[in-house]
Amino acid sequence: MRSHKCGELNSAHLGEQVELCGWVHRRRDHGGVIFIDLRDRAGLVQVVFDPDSAETFAIAETVRSEYVLQIQGTVRNRPEGTVNPDMATGGIEILVSHIEVLNTSETPPFPLEESSGIEVNEDTRLRYRYIDLRRTEMQEKMRFRRDVTRCLRNFLDEHDFFEIETPYLTKATPEGARDYLVPSRTHENSFFALPQSPQLYKQLLMISGMDRYYQVVRCFRDEDLRADRQPEFTQLDIETSFMTEEQIMFLMEEMIRHLFNETLEEKLPAVFPQMTYQEAMQRFGSDAPDLRIPLELVDIADEMKDVEFKVFSGPANDPNGRVVALRLPHGSELSRKDIDELTKFVGIYGAKGLAYIKVNDRAGGLEGLQSPIVKFAPAEVWEQVLTKTEAQTGDLVFFGADKTNIVNEAMGALRVKLGHDRGLLEGKWKPVWIIDFPMFDWDDKNQRWNAIHHPFTAPSCDIEALQAHPGEALSRAYDLVLNGTEVGGGSIRIHRTEMQQQVFKLLGIGEQEAKEKFGFLLEALKYGCPPHGGIAFGMDRLVMLMTGSKSIREVIAFPKTQTAACPLMDAPAIVNDAQLRELGIKLRKPVNKESESEQQE
Ligand code: AMO
Ligand code: AMP
Repeated sequence: MRSHKCGELNSAHLGEQVELCGWVHRRRDHGGVIFIDLRDRAGLVQVVFDPDSAETFAIAETVRSEYVLQIQGTVRNRPEGTVNPDMATGGIEILVSHIEVLNTSETPPFPLEESSGIEVNEDTRLRYRYIDLRRTEMQEKMRFRRDVTRCLRNFLDEHDFFEIETPYLTKATPEGARDYLVPSRTHENSFFALPQSPQLYKQLLMISGMDRYYQVVRCFRDEDLRADRQPEFTQLDIETSFMTEEQIMFLMEEMIRHLFNETLEEKLPAVFPQMTYQEAMQRFGSDAPDLRIPLELVDIADEMKDVEFKVFSGPANDPNGRVVALRLPHGSELSRKDIDELTKFVGIYGAKGLAYIKVNDRAGGLEGLQSPIVKFAPAEVWEQVLTKTEAQTGDLVFFGADKTNIVNEAMGALRVKLGHDRGLLEGKWKPVWIIDFPMFDWDDKNQRWNAIHHPFTAPSCDIEALQAHPGEALSRAYDLVLNGTEVGGGSIRIHRTEMQQQVFKLLGIGEQEAKEKFGFLLEALKYGCPPHGGIAFGMDRLVMLMTGSKSIREVIAFPKTQTAACPLMDAPAIVNDAQLRELGIKLRKPVNKESESEQQE
């Protein structure tokens, strides 16, 4: 139907007869001449209708935004003074000799022109996603995402990985979220679970001798959604046999460096730094630190143990408590209102307040400090604190004191907020591997250990040490963090039955339960399981970061809303009674009276 794409025409095509198809991006009536910007995936081109060709002109007068046209015409130079340097095809235009309207369009729910300046609400964009995706920005993101996937696939193919598909209808795979369940019609009272990741399948593939596996794969997790979380998302999932964690990290670094170089022409560091979990929590209050932000938490519990201010001395003397200072250079210019807002912000993370000291004159002793809390401790103590934080005149020091996890979350988030709000970011791309995670954290509510990674991650100690001090055991897991976002996570796996059983035991999974849930794995481990390990990258997150998008919804063609729904298809939806009956399902809260009486039959 066409000889060229709209956006690919240029002065090399001057004088040629071309045939184009596309959408009416913009139509302008200029005193007897009609201009249309015709759009396809390749871009825009200006097509011109001259009143001399009465028939085509008459049709052009009827077309509106988003009509689909087919035109024939001649490529010519734009007249002097009308060249548009902002447009790839801005030097030329097509003088139309024939037009056909392939389809009409209702007025779109929002304008597609970038220049419209209209902020479209996201629900409307998602409801009409097929129109939203026509926008240049979205087309560009989809193209870039294709480039990323292709580049990663090529890299892995060249490194001898097999791409192997694994089932979506499967059994629960614990990654810490709720499962999406699918009822089975053929097996009464039974459900499939959609995989939270292909974790167990890829381990089985290593047992099968596949050696190196990868898959670009959808994962399903019913969890609270955020800007970087979707109920279904895509992983680049990888597993290898006979490789150490250092070798795996090295290869993956090489892949990510290659990706940035190929698709963005960006150079990432030749070696990615590694940081222990402990250090990351200590310095940044987070296991996904944004290293572009030059602010750090400084522990001051030692200094605060004996002060009269209970808010500080309490947590300072509590083994589960933490007291930190966070210095903001030039922060004394913050107003009372700014600080009140920041106090509200840390409140979201459970902080009960946000103490601060403005350092008006570092050499001036107590007189030089402005703060509601200086009165609660002697001058020597503040002197030590200011020395420790390296505070200078004009700085502001914030304080957080509470249970360790609250301080980490609140002050870690404050650090990130200040870094962004005050434009403190240094450098463009700061990757870091986080290593030496603890194996478990203690779940007070259920009085048992929880796996920090997943229950198949190998500890770095032997089975006796694990049993004796589970709380001290470190795992052989590693996360790749880029600019404060966890883009990938993986580990060396347990490859011996006894160790796997021991970990299940510590997680409170009894022998019977282990057999029911993971009997197949425990059995498979007995048949010559090789040492193996791998990683999974969040593709949506990677593409989000690489395109500078605010949320992963911006880089997914058909994402779900924050409430895990699809406004376009109107999913999830109520299903009819016959379907439920076939599945042997009865609703606890029937949809309406009719279905209720039917169900009671
Ligand atoms: P993990 O649970 O860390 O590991 O997931 C790997 C990566 O997937 C991304 N990710 C998400 N992206 C969008 N929405 C979500 N809800 C979401 N959850 C996770 C993150 C994360 O780093 N089987 C293990 C991997 C392994 O051990 O090899 C796993 O799934 O970028
Ligand atoms: P108060 O004596 O309660 O008025 O608190 C004095 C200062 O300490 C105020 O600036 C509070 O915001 C701050 N503050 C209160 N609780 C905490 C806390 N847990 N961590 C840090 N600062 C706090």
